[in-house]
Amino acid sequence: MTRVATLTIDGKTIEVPILKGKCGPDVLDVHALYQETGLFTYDPGFTSTASCSSGITYIDGDEGILLHRGYAIEDLVEKCDFLEVAYLLLYGELPDGSQRESFEQSISRHTMVHEQLRTFFQGFRRDAHPMAIMVGVVGALSAFYHDSLDIYDAQQREIASHRLIAKMPTIAAMAYNYSRGCPLPYPQNGLTYSQNFLRMMFAIPAETYQINPIIARAMDIIFILHADHEQNASTSTVRLAGSSQANPFACIASGIAALWGPAHGGANEAVLTMFGKIGTKQNIPEFIERAKNKNDPFRLMGFGHRVYKNYDPRARIMRKACYEVLGQLNINDPLLEVALELERIALEDPYFIEKKLYPNVDFYSGIIFKALEIPTSMFTVIFSVARTVGWVAQWNEMMADPAQKIGRPRQLYTGYEARKLPKK
Ligand code: CMC
Repeated sequence: MTRVATLTIDGKTIEVPILKGKCGPDVLDVHALYQETGLFTYDPGFTSTASCSSGITYIDGDEGILLHRGYAIEDLVEKCDFLEVAYLLLYGELPDGSQRESFEQSISRHTMVHEQLRTFFQGFRRDAHPMAIMVGVVGALSAFYHDSLDIYDAQQREIASHRLIAKMPTIAAMAYNYSRGCPLPYPQNGLTYSQNFLRMMFAIPAETYQINPIIARAMDIIFILHADHEQNASTSTVRLAGSSQANPFACIASGIAALWGPAHGGANEAVLTMFGKIGTKQNIPEFIERAKNKNDPFRLMGFGHRVYKNYDPRARIMRKACYEVLGQLNINDPLLEVALELERIALEDPYFIEKKLYPNVDFYSGIIFKALEIPTSMFTVIFSVARTVGWVAQWNEMMADPAQKIGRPRQLYTGYEARKLPKK
């Protein structure tokens, strides 16, 4: 039997059904509220709002648990590569041997971009932020695949999704090489997803590029950790854009734009800049005090999360990977010491304890990126390459839902009431 909550407004009582998910909090189904009461709900920032139902990713923020299709992120990182996780997110199950082979084949067949797209890069200044280039160039993909695309045909959606997953590393590496004045790279399809990305990023035509397996594995872990994270700001943006039946390539560009902000995916870049400013362990207390000061806009970047009120499991994996990768590459980065000390001090401070602020995925990722010689401005771009998998999985889930409607939030209006124009 459906549980109901009763709501009494101005003497009238209505029943609000309570929906039960597989795990996590139940939700009040308020979709008929306006019709029955003439009232909207008000929840800026969606702190108490489930915007959709989804079977892809589950987060238990209090316990610090992240599951993709029921599998723990720790197990996926240990046992799978990025394309297996991508398959899992898209199709709901891990691939068997032949499914994996045909998925890999399809992704590698779509890694190249139309030659015409290469000319888009010339329109950007060389010092343009690569996220600005990503928003523009990925959005431009929609011009190449528009008339041919029926978004209500599952097979066509699948091809669009594979194209996006395949082309994102190519476009990202092109953006980087454009900024450093190098030739725009072409993919090499015999390589794995991560190897291919690294080669496109760093190889130059004048030299042979050797792939370091430690770096390739680290890249794969980074991709897996960023692949999906349920209804975050960028994913919700993709869903909202997609709900109007917009072109999926344009929808992903909107997701990239939302990801760029420092409160979301842009935090990884901001964290490394912050570590650089802190410089040495001695300066940490000053920055902790600034983060606690309400009159100072400074926040401890890479700390805190809307959903996690415990250690972000991705941060724990990233921290371990930091030790391993730096150790294997024989790198002694003083920033790792700053990060560890900053975490230690913050986690003992009553401000951070009371507000349940813990390191999030971005806290340690910059240190690994730096060890892989990836420039700071590319950190969020790499996040967007990985998150494209989550975005397309969520977009497909939404488009396949027969009950799907255009997303159209309402508002609490605080402007002028109707008034007459002043006399001229
Ligand atoms: N440093 C100092 N204080 C903080 C921080 C922080 N990093 N994060 C939250 N707080 C305080 C905040 O001032 C507020 O205090 P009060 O209740 O006294 O007003 C309280 O903690 C709750 O914060 P909030 O901003 O209301 O929480 P939110 O859920 O709206 O924001 C957040 C979550 C991630 C935007 C925020 O924690 C933040 O700005 N963190 C730093 C940026 C960051 O690391 N972002 C990456 C998020 S994880 C990856 C991703 O999503 O892409």
